Amino acid sequence: MTTPEPADATPEPVDADQAPLIELDAVSKYYGNIRALEGVSLEVRAGEVSCVLGDNGAGKSTLIKIISGLHQHDAGTFRIEGEETRLSNPRDALDRGIATVYQDLAVVPLMPVWRNFFLGSEPTKGVGPFRRLDVQQMRATTREELLRMGIDLRDVDQPIGTLSGGERQCVAIARAVYFGAKVLVLDEPTAALGVKQSGVVLKYVAAARDAGLGVVLITHNPHHAYLVGDRFVLLKRGTMAGSHQRSEIGLDELTRQMAGGSELDELSHELERAQSE
Ligand SMILES: Nc1ncnc2c1ncn2[C@@H]1O[C@H](COP(=O)(O)OP(=O)(O)O)[C@@H](O)[C@H]1O
Ligand SMILES: [Mg+2]
Repeated sequence: MTTPEPADATPEPVDADQAPLIELDAVSKYYGNIRALEGVSLEVRAGEVSCVLGDNGAGKSTLIKIISGLHQHDAGTFRIEGEETRLSNPRDALDRGIATVYQDLAVVPLMPVWRNFFLGSEPTKGVGPFRRLDVQQMRATTREELLRMGIDLRDVDQPIGTLSGGERQCVAIARAVYFGAKVLVLDEPTAALGVKQSGVVLKYVAAARDAGLGVVLITHNPHHAYLVGDRFVLLKRGTMAGSHQRSEIGLDELTRQMAGGSELDELSHELERAQSE
């Protein structure tokens, strides 16, 4: 008699060649005759964090506006799971599993946390004229989902405006995970935060990654990027100044490139000279 192999003896091999969730290839975008992006490429894979780094005006927001359906690219290709795409609006992006958390979070400050969690996607119970919001369920689910991400809010009835900036970012991340996003796009989630709160937000970025989402993290802080990033794209005045996988670059080099590398060396020479004169 032969014993059948247990079905789970060999895990499904992870196919490294599988199409990325999102792939931008030599994408350009012009606002009139302002070149906001030119020839920019980016790959986002499930369970990975792709970081987009660059100074103010580098084109970071423009890049994510293309991914989130707010703007359309003028040249290059945009693929979602291998299929060439042109998103017509943010709803379209959301339907394809792309959730975006903007820096100025679209929350209603005076509404309770649970209400914001479900904003625009409220479950109802009853039918016809008896149809009403299922408040009990929304409260319970919000509490559960936040706890699952390790966020223990004393009271989900408190107005979301009473939460700190970091906590609000975390609620937005938990919301995207709950509603089944495949790709989570975060525009400078730590820019306005102190060290401690930035750390908390980055922890939830890692949690979303571990839940299998592909994350696009926009930041101008190489330290934050390097804490969670698998891939790094550097933008400079709308063009790609670098694209690296984590194994190819260390934090020091990433910081150097971000700071303008040779430009900084030159500046330090000039400053030395100025001092000795
Ligand atoms: N709606 C717009 N109309 C005209 N120019 C724009 C618009 N949005 C951005 N830009 C320009 O495109 C460039 C890139 O901007 P942006 O993507 O916001 O950069 P970042 O987010 O990296 O600071 C900048 O020069 C900016 O002034
Ligand atoms: Mg921006």
